[in-house]
Amino acid sequence: MTRIAVIDGHPDPSPSRFGHALVSAYADAAREAGHEVREIGLAGKHIPILESRKQWLEDDVPAAVRPGQDAIKWAEHIVFCYPLWMGDMPALLKAFIEQAFRPNFALDYGDEGSGQMPRKLLRGRSARLIVTMGMPALFYRAYFASHSVRSFERNILKLTGISPVTTSLIGNVDGSDRHRRRWLDKIAAHGVAGD
Ligand SMILES: Cc1cc2nc3c(=O)[nH]c(=O)nc-3n(C[C@H](O)[C@H](O)[C@H](O)COP(=O)(O)O)c2cc1C
Repeated sequence: MTRIAVIDGHPDPSPSRFGHALVSAYADAAREAGHEVREIGLAGKHIPILESRKQWLEDDVPAAVRPGQDAIKWAEHIVFCYPLWMGDMPALLKAFIEQAFRPNFALDYGDEGSGQMPRKLLRGRSARLIVTMGMPALFYRAYFASHSVRSFERNILKLTGISPVTTSLIGNVDGSDRHRRRWLDKIAAHGVAGD
C-alpha cells in the first residue's frame, strides 16, 4: 500500500475537462486497490504568484497551498496531472509550485554563503506526470524534446529529491472517445499499481 498525493493542476473547474476524468480514474482505481490517496484540486483556488525573494523566504505559505504541501510531505508517490498550455504547465500550477516548494520544505540551503549544495528535503518520494496536449505526443517528444516536462522533472522534482519521475504524455487529447477511453484505462492501471 502506497500513500499517494494526486495534484490536479487544471485551472478550469468544469467537470467536462478530460484532466479531471484522468485524475478520478487514477484516484478511484488506486483507492480500490488499497492505496491511501489524497486529492488536491487547484481549480478555483486563489494562489498568488511569488513576487520577490523576500516573500519566498519569509512570507507564510498561502492558505490555499498548505493542503497541497501537507499532501506532498505525507506522500510516498506524487501524481501531477495538467494540460499543456502555451507549451508549459498552466500558470496556476506554476504558482502552486513556486509557493509550495519553499526553502526548508523542498531544499535546505544551509548557512548563507557556505557554498554548499542545497540538501534535498523531498527524498524518498517518486512522481508521475500526466500531461495532456492538443498536439500528438510524438511531436511534443520529437520536435519540442518534451522541454517543459523535462524541465519540471529535472529542475524542480529531481532537484528536490523526488525520484524516479515517470511521465504519461497524452496527445491528440481533443480526439475520439475511443482514444480517451484507452487512456483512462491506462491511467487507472497506474492507479492500481500505485506508480
Ligand atoms: C490556453 C491554452 C493553451 C494551450 N496550449 C497548447 C500547447 O501549447 N500545445 C498543445 O499541444 N496544446 C495546447 N492546448 C490544448 C490543451 O493542451 C488541450 O486542450 C488539453 O490538454 C485538453 O485537456 P482538458 O480537456 O483537460 O482541458 C492549449 C489549450 C489552451 C486552452
